[in-house]
Amino acid sequence: MCGIIGIVGRERVAPLLLDALRRLEYRGYDSAGIATLVNGKIDRRRAQGKLRNLAARLEEAPIEGTTGIGHTRWATHGRPSEGNAHPHANAHVAVVHNGIVENFHELRQELEADGAVFETETDTEVIVHLITQELKRQASPSAATAAALKRLEGAFALAVLFAGRHDMMIGARRGSPMAVGYGDGEMYVGSDSLALAPLTNRITYLEEGDWVELTAEGVTIHDADDAVVERPVKQTSVSGAMIGKGDYRHFMQKEIHEQPSVIGDTLHAFLNPLQRAVTLPDLPFDLGKLPRVTITACGTAFLAGWVAKYWMEQVARQPVELDLASELRYRAPPMPDGGLTTVISQSGETAETHGALQYAREQGQRTLSIVNVAESAIARDSEAVLQTLAGPEIGVASTKAFTTQLTVLAALSIAIGRARGTIDQATEARLTDALIEVPARASEVLNHDGHIAEIGQWVAEARDVLYLGRGNLYPIALEGALKLKEISYIHAEGYAAGEMKHGPIALIDEHVPVICCAPSGPLFPKMASNVQEVIARGGRVILLSDKQGLERAGAGAEYTIELPEVDPFVAPLLYSIPVQLLAYHTAVFKGTDVDQPRNLAKSVTVE
Ligand code: F6R
Repeated sequence: MCGIIGIVGRERVAPLLLDALRRLEYRGYDSAGIATLVNGKIDRRRAQGKLRNLAARLEEAPIEGTTGIGHTRWATHGRPSEGNAHPHANAHVAVVHNGIVENFHELRQELEADGAVFETETDTEVIVHLITQELKRQASPSAATAAALKRLEGAFALAVLFAGRHDMMIGARRGSPMAVGYGDGEMYVGSDSLALAPLTNRITYLEEGDWVELTAEGVTIHDADDAVVERPVKQTSVSGAMIGKGDYRHFMQKEIHEQPSVIGDTLHAFLNPLQRAVTLPDLPFDLGKLPRVTITACGTAFLAGWVAKYWMEQVARQPVELDLASELRYRAPPMPDGGLTTVISQSGETAETHGALQYAREQGQRTLSIVNVAESAIARDSEAVLQTLAGPEIGVASTKAFTTQLTVLAALSIAIGRARGTIDQATEARLTDALIEVPARASEVLNHDGHIAEIGQWVAEARDVLYLGRGNLYPIALEGALKLKEISYIHAEGYAAGEMKHGPIALIDEHVPVICCAPSGPLFPKMASNVQEVIARGGRVILLSDKQGLERAGAGAEYTIELPEVDPFVAPLLYSIPVQLLAYHTAVFKGTDVDQPRNLAKSVTVE
């Protein structure tokens, strides 16, 4: 979702703003812009489309000034265009905004009645006029912004620049994240620590409702009631180097290839290989006494939760309810006393997931979040946090965040089983051993990259693709289909293989690739029959299985991908990788924008 940067600086600020926007582009890329103060006057450059268009505009028409704000946009109100691009400005103030002003219609009517002339279709422009109205009443920039903030409903983060005030800027947070960075004679605000990474590693995360006045020398933070407050300054470990592409062509490709190492890092935090046991940190609730676990999330994180439902039910005999966060929140189901709600989110900022967490808290549930960003709103609002150690994920399509979520959820499932007494020490040791093997087995899977690229060239010709799986591989079929849709724009659906004959089998013909995730294990014979049913109807199967499975069911498949033979418990972790690679290579052959697929953004802070 939109990215924001603001710098009260000493040197020419435009190159720094542009560089920070490059690190924020994953949050939105349909337009971008910057505004600076030149001789006290607001000057700005904006461009529709990718950041490179803004960079070209700045080449043609450079912009001076040492204090400025920048924005990369994912459109909510107002189509992507230069006119609707941020910063929005008049002669007095310039504003960049992430989020939605929900009462903008009412405010716009009121402001227009008062003589304000609107130039754009955006909700953001009301903020410009509200602040201006206060400035005209002789309010100081801080007082004007504080008054305007009180009129706004919705979730947002803002940075505001004032004409004639190159020595200061204001940032605000309500519902969308905002970090303040401390430099040497320079101060920064940004949507996340990635934006600020090369500028500083000293960061304060604003709390909900906070607003901040930055000057070159320091910051004054106010809470929602305008009282001056202290917030802790943290050293971040995020470095500029972590957000480069290295030798890879795309971030997604790099992130797929990082999986053996980040799964290993995450396992290291939650397993003890010598004791062959799971070692979760102390949790403030008893995992052995949960009447129900509710798992909720969005998108790919939701599919990780779906795998966990299978694991927790099978390994721990734990009743689990799984719900899309956007549905749970408004369906408002009853939740059992003493139940645990587990939310899963890479960014830790997703609006629906955060909303579902808040609903669970209101229902008196215990709460646990699995997040990749430790300082995120979801992490802060949960009773307990288990962090995935995926490192920054920049590709918009989630890959390494998904498999590290699975890693944490596998460890959690074993821990629940142990606490409930449904698994013995020997079983825990076997499952732990299987998990410890995953990084090495994942590296073997990555060796199939070239072969999967060939298959991708074939899949790139298709109009529709089906993915099939059973048991804990069913959510992986769904994830394979989601990845392909997102980045190649080919229509794809995932099905539970047993459901084929109840409807979707009607779609099968020689033009539809059918990707079957079929590891050896108790469900293999059933899956093998489903594969044959597809082949018998002229379907073109890509069979993902191990050596034994391919020997038994590979005849008649168009392509096969041989994966290592592993304990069925960990198969979802390994089978995720070929479906990611297939989506990646298919998209590369189609020539789509792999890292920034159309219409999408990461860290979605609006509903
Ligand atoms: C798909 C994808 C999205 C996210 C979803 C939740 O590749 O990345 O479906 O999984 O938007 O995001 P987080 O995990 O940040 O809550």
